[in-house]
Amino acid sequence: MAIVITGTGSSIPENRVSNEQLASKVDTTDEWIRSHTGIGARRFAADGMVTSDLGVEASLVALKRAGKTALDIDIIVVATASPDFFGFPSTACIIQDKLGADNAAALDVNAGCTGFIYGIDVAASMLASATRKTALVIGAETLTRITDWEDRSSCVLFGDGAAAFVLEKDEESTEASGRGILHSWLRAKGSGFKSLYLSQPERLKTFERSGDYTKPPAIVMDGKSVYMFAVKAITDTIEALIAESGFALEDFRWIVPHQANARIVQAAAKRFGIKDDHIYMNIEEYANTSAASIPIALNEMVEKRLLKKGDLVLAMGFGAGLTYGGTIIRW
Ligand code: ACO
Repeated sequence: MAIVITGTGSSIPENRVSNEQLASKVDTTDEWIRSHTGIGARRFAADGMVTSDLGVEASLVALKRAGKTALDIDIIVVATASPDFFGFPSTACIIQDKLGADNAAALDVNAGCTGFIYGIDVAASMLASATRKTALVIGAETLTRITDWEDRSSCVLFGDGAAAFVLEKDEESTEASGRGILHSWLRAKGSGFKSLYLSQPERLKTFERSGDYTKPPAIVMDGKSVYMFAVKAITDTIEALIAESGFALEDFRWIVPHQANARIVQAAAKRFGIKDDHIYMNIEEYANTSAASIPIALNEMVEKRLLKKGDLVLAMGFGAGLTYGGTIIRW
């Protein structure tokens, strides 16, 4: 039995904001952003649109390509750091309702930029149950709504977008010989949580709280700590996946990292001697879309016909939590 990806889709907001456009409102330059991150532009979700709307659009494309309807879905897993509601209900439940997926269980995964990698593993594990056959795994973000626009070192990094995968149980194929999700490796380092979190002003006060929150919740990031963590996270993930799976680095046609910063990926790639044409990057166009970045990249590769049947792919993430990890997929 194997878990295979039978459809992918994405939702990329139309509103493209270049570095130059951003520089008219934020004290920054195209040159600084490009040289420090590799980012050239990002997308802003339209006013009134929320994370679930992007997730639904991406899901409809993925379901169509998989030849499935919403009623075929047994599980919906949504990875997001910018849910419609902080706390509850889950964005997965809102998507379940909007899709009319009346036979599905639904839950969110909160693992920052590693969310989609965690989500794939959660869905694949749930599909092990005899009664479930089809899962929808979604990475969806409206990060520009929780960005601190007064913090130029973080606000230039983020963008909005979503992508979805349909996962199906294939009883004929075996993990050893066939396609599908072959191996996952996940870790957390909660001791580093203060490097990257969502501010929650006055949350610690209850009865004595007076007046409204002075600032809405927004991303707080210690860029240098996250940078150092990220390079080590990529290194550890690649080494662990190779050691546990038995594959050699040369076996992977594609490495698809979370699109956080081109410099982070280049530093890790140099360490392993991975050539540029084995790494897929699209950060220049979309910036960091957190849990959506890996599925957006993989879906784009499908649409560009870069992924061939049988290609071995190593996808990996790192982010808030702190969390990190990767998964090996035979396409
Ligand atoms: N434009 C112009 N100048 C800037 C900007 C900007 N947008 N931001 C910072 N600077 C300035 C600083 O003020 C500083 O100036 P100074 O030397 O006069 O004080 C100078 O640039 C250097 O600042 P640093 O913070 O040291 O810049 P650094 O080289 O570390 O790059 C960056 C900052 C890009 C944020 C980097 O640390 C980084 O990429 N960190 C990782 C971030 C990341 O990947 N996060 C992903 C996780 S997201 C998630 O999980 C949701």
